[in-house]
Amino acid sequence: MPDNEAFRNIIEIESRHNSGVYGKREIVIVRGQGALLYDAQGREYIDCVGGQGSANIGHAHPAIIRAINEQAARLTVCTEMFYNDRRAELVERLATLSGMPRLFLCNSGTEAVEAAIKFARFSTGRSGIVAAMRAFHGRTLGALSATWNKKYRQGFEPLVPGFSHVPYNDPQKLDEAISEQTAAVILEVVQGEGGIYPASAEFLQRAQELCRQRGALLIIDEIQTGLGRTGRLFAYQHHNIQPDLVCLAKSLAGGLPMGATLIGERVGPLPVGAHGSTFGGNPVMCAAALATLEVIEEERLAEKAAALGAFLMERLKQLRSPLVREVRGLGLMVGIELKEKVAPYLAQLAERGVLALPAGMTVIRLLPPLVISQEQLERVVSALEEVLS
Ligand SMILES: Cc1ncc(COP(=O)(O)O)c(C=O)c1O
Repeated sequence: MPDNEAFRNIIEIESRHNSGVYGKREIVIVRGQGALLYDAQGREYIDCVGGQGSANIGHAHPAIIRAINEQAARLTVCTEMFYNDRRAELVERLATLSGMPRLFLCNSGTEAVEAAIKFARFSTGRSGIVAAMRAFHGRTLGALSATWNKKYRQGFEPLVPGFSHVPYNDPQKLDEAISEQTAAVILEVVQGEGGIYPASAEFLQRAQELCRQRGALLIIDEIQTGLGRTGRLFAYQHHNIQPDLVCLAKSLAGGLPMGATLIGERVGPLPVGAHGSTFGGNPVMCAAALATLEVIEEERLAEKAAALGAFLMERLKQLRSPLVREVRGLGLMVGIELKEKVAPYLAQLAERGVLALPAGMTVIRLLPPLVISQEQLERVVSALEEVLS
């Protein structure tokens, strides 16, 4: 375990060589187990950051360790120029689980969104993309053009032309925005970075209906909501819709870098060379993703997220705090909106051994690993009670 000086040294070295784009907390994380993280001084934390949604199956899950080790010893590099056993298994599994016959594999969320935008434009021959206000879809230029908040966009204009934004959960405004130039509508089922706002079933069903009527495609961004987080494997399954393109990443390969764009029947054929990625479909990532899907199924993590999420929401709604404006969420994707900025409260939670995220300036966001126990969630609620009372 590093002494105090070594600990300071780690922070200084990273700070000196960082690009500067990340706001960091003064905590050096060196180990994780399940829903717990440990810092360089051996302090234990309950992890409600959950790798910003990429740790659904928890830290150091034995199934992931085994899958990575076995595959690393056999084959670590195999581009999509060749076929591969692990990749074949994974694409078949994802197609069965989603009912979407084709998919494109990549390495992150923003890349999964870029691919969906490109496929939608290519398939429809149209350029318009309608997104929602408060949406977050990533930071590369295409995905950034679908992202709403100025804070992410400023300084990078001109962004990609053809994007527009409508109020979330407003079917009428969506109706007015979709024209014969619209290639796709892109939506999150629960807006994550935007502040944990769940979509209404009516809004999503109307989006699907309008897209089908007008020859546009419906892209659902499940990067934060997918893989059991909200109580279903994919959050859109709560609302009885079938999207044309689905973006996955974060927890897909148990927290290793992997993204996927699932492609439905309404998307036309894509020619060779239309898109690609050197690392996409990497066999180690495919093995990790297969193990992750197995863990989610065997440990019934979506059902667990539904039950524990209901328990957590119930307990949070009982918090008697003058600071709390609203509690929102679906499954284990939970936001506590405060009447003031959350940064000092996040620091106080960390002092009490709970790591949590912001969503915007005024929302405390909880994205714990789905393997978290009810007792650990009780400790999170107690810490929140102390900090917010
Ligand atoms: C809904 C959503 N879409 C896209 C992204 C971008 O993913 P990545 O950071 O892997 O590029 C995120 C990341 O937070 C997200 O929450």
